[in-house]
Amino acid sequence: MSYNVLITGGSGYLGGTLLNRLQSAGLPALKLYALQYGAEPLTFDAYEESAVREAVLKHEINVVFSLHDAFKADSAVAFIKALAELENNTGRNIHFLHTTGAKAFSSHMGAPIDKPFADNDNLHGIHKAQHPPIPCLQPLLDTNITVTELSESLGVQGYVFAPCIVYGKGEGFGNKISIQTVAVVDAAKAAKKVYRVDQGRPTWPVCHILDNTALYIQLLRNIVSGRQQGYGKNGYYLASPGSVAWEDIYSGIARAMYKQRAIHDDTVHQADGAALEEMAQGLGCDKAMVAFQLGGACLLTAKHGVEIGWKPEYGPEHILSSLDEEVDLIFQHKSDWAFACTMTGVFDPRPICFQYLCS
Ligand SMILES: NC(=O)c1ccc[n+]([C@@H]2O[C@H](COP(=O)([O-])OP(=O)(O)OC[C@H]3O[C@@H](n4cnc5c(N)ncnc54)[C@H](OP(=O)(O)O)[C@@H]3O)[C@@H](O)[C@H]2O)c1
Repeated sequence: MSYNVLITGGSGYLGGTLLNRLQSAGLPALKLYALQYGAEPLTFDAYEESAVREAVLKHEINVVFSLHDAFKADSAVAFIKALAELENNTGRNIHFLHTTGAKAFSSHMGAPIDKPFADNDNLHGIHKAQHPPIPCLQPLLDTNITVTELSESLGVQGYVFAPCIVYGKGEGFGNKISIQTVAVVDAAKAAKKVYRVDQGRPTWPVCHILDNTALYIQLLRNIVSGRQQGYGKNGYYLASPGSVAWEDIYSGIARAMYKQRAIHDDTVHQADGAALEEMAQGLGCDKAMVAFQLGGACLLTAKHGVEIGWKPEYGPEHILSSLDEEVDLIFQHKSDWAFACTMTGVFDPRPICFQYLCS
């Protein structure tokens, strides 16, 4: 069986690093396509059903790893339908991987926070019982449910991949920084202090970018070598070696930012209404969405990846010893980007658009 693989989001932080690492992953011969560079480039509208259908059928793309939209289902639905048609026409094995975020399994989304649960538990059933306290977040949940149910009903092997707080330098040609650490830095820069948004010490899973990438590659390796792995209702995968408390991330970022004199002191303060207002400005979002971007509890743990051969290299505490480097990387990237925008006269909408998405 030959494999034609499409990776979307190749200019992004996760997708760019995946494309880069695939070059040396030692996978059996496969033809690699991407909407951006780094593989054979394809140009089509990933939200236009007829364009997706044409691209999948013309190039006989039988594996799609989607890394460009956690929230909306339209693009995923178009790919799943096109893959099912390809299977009907050619009998090829077909696979669709959707990238969501650990937020889908968090307090923000009405997921259980009384005890830990694992990615090889019945996450589909858990999703069906969730009611997000902020109703506009519902599509994040619905998209995962749609991917799972539609792919099962059409005979596509579907996977839902959940990155968490991913950190470390991206290796792609485009965006090199993550979402979550950037949100903490942007909010602190605007408020001139680092603020916690929750009570207590809620925790969240973390993962180094190379370990996150390694799980994508392990899933693809198993697909192309025909090894069995869970899909459909058993196809949820969290990339994470474990969790840390937000409070410890805030503390490390406060120390790193204060060293650079970007904030007024190196301690973590409790956010009040006025601080939330300033943080919201730094994040380019509504005050009610600040906690969604940089706080909350997520008790999801990662067992499924290990079962299919994934071994993370970095422990969860590694992020805490990397925060000086992470803050440097964010400042460096943002000043490069601002310089590029000044030179080209382009306003960069990326932080506002993508920080609404999930981790
Ligand atoms: N980074 C994290 O820590 C994290 C954690 C959890 C979940 N996630 C989710 O994982 C996904 C990728 O995250 P990321 O950090 O790699 O984001 P990113 O660096 O902002 O990259 C986003 C990618 O999506 C592409 N894209 C945007 N709109 C598109 C469209 N209409 N059609 C086709 N491609 C489009 C972008 O292409 P252009 O460059 O051409 O705009 C870019 O390649 C997102 O859905 C995000 O919510 C990320």
